[in-house]
Amino acid sequence: MKTPSKNAKLATNSAKNSTLRIRPGTSRDVPVMLSLIRALAKYERLTREFRADATRFRRDGFGKRPYFETQICTRAGRPAGFALYFFTYSTFLSRPTLYVEDLFVLPDERGKGAGKALLSALARIAIRKRCGRMEWAVLDWNLPAIGFYRRLGAQLRKDWILTRLAGADLRRLARATQNPRSAERGHRT
Ligand SMILES: CC(C)(COP(=O)(O)OP(=O)(O)OC[C@H]1O[C@@H](n2cnc3c(N)ncnc32)[C@H](O)[C@@H]1OP(=O)(O)O)[C@@H](O)C(=O)NCCC(=O)NCCS
Repeated sequence: MKTPSKNAKLATNSAKNSTLRIRPGTSRDVPVMLSLIRALAKYERLTREFRADATRFRRDGFGKRPYFETQICTRAGRPAGFALYFFTYSTFLSRPTLYVEDLFVLPDERGKGAGKALLSALARIAIRKRCGRMEWAVLDWNLPAIGFYRRLGAQLRKDWILTRLAGADLRRLARATQNPRSAERGHRT
């Protein structure tokens, strides 16, 4: 079989990517984003933890005090994937960190540049916002994603342990000590 020339290969690659577009998500994208998040939960075998709710998601992302931002990747106008991110802060660097909460590309679109295009858009935002770094977590069995991240130059930090407090334990901690001012008020009355 004849091997395609380098130029022909480049042309094919650029044709493959020509219709990929990245744009910020809007409240109109909420239904599609929720279906992508549900698909991500299924992929990550975390459906039992999936309790997303359109009203809360719309308010928290697109209300008065947005907690996150999104980028949608489309091919020929159709959703191919999305990324959801927000900013944390590195005290050691005195710079914000762009934290990627979700990255998901639909199965048929994988391996065609959508994931890289999304993270590249996030990298541009990180630089514009003078972030010191981007960060995210990946499940230890998700070898395709780990390979993809390594290829981009990301380092896996196995010395940090994701630590979480939720549900009854969170509520118990909230009740564990009283606000000194309300305790004082309580004492006086
Ligand atoms: C992981 C994921 C986001 C990657 O997106 P993608 O669109 O499939 O990846 P791309 O096509 O943009 O790949 C970009 C580059 O990474 C390389 N790459 C992709 N997967 C790779 C792997 N497993 N190992 C090594 N390199 C890989 C590609 O070859 C490409 O290299 P190039 O730039 O030199 O051509 C996507 O596959 C996905 O959504 N997976 C399921 C959900 C998931 O795991 N999300 C992340 C949770 S942390």
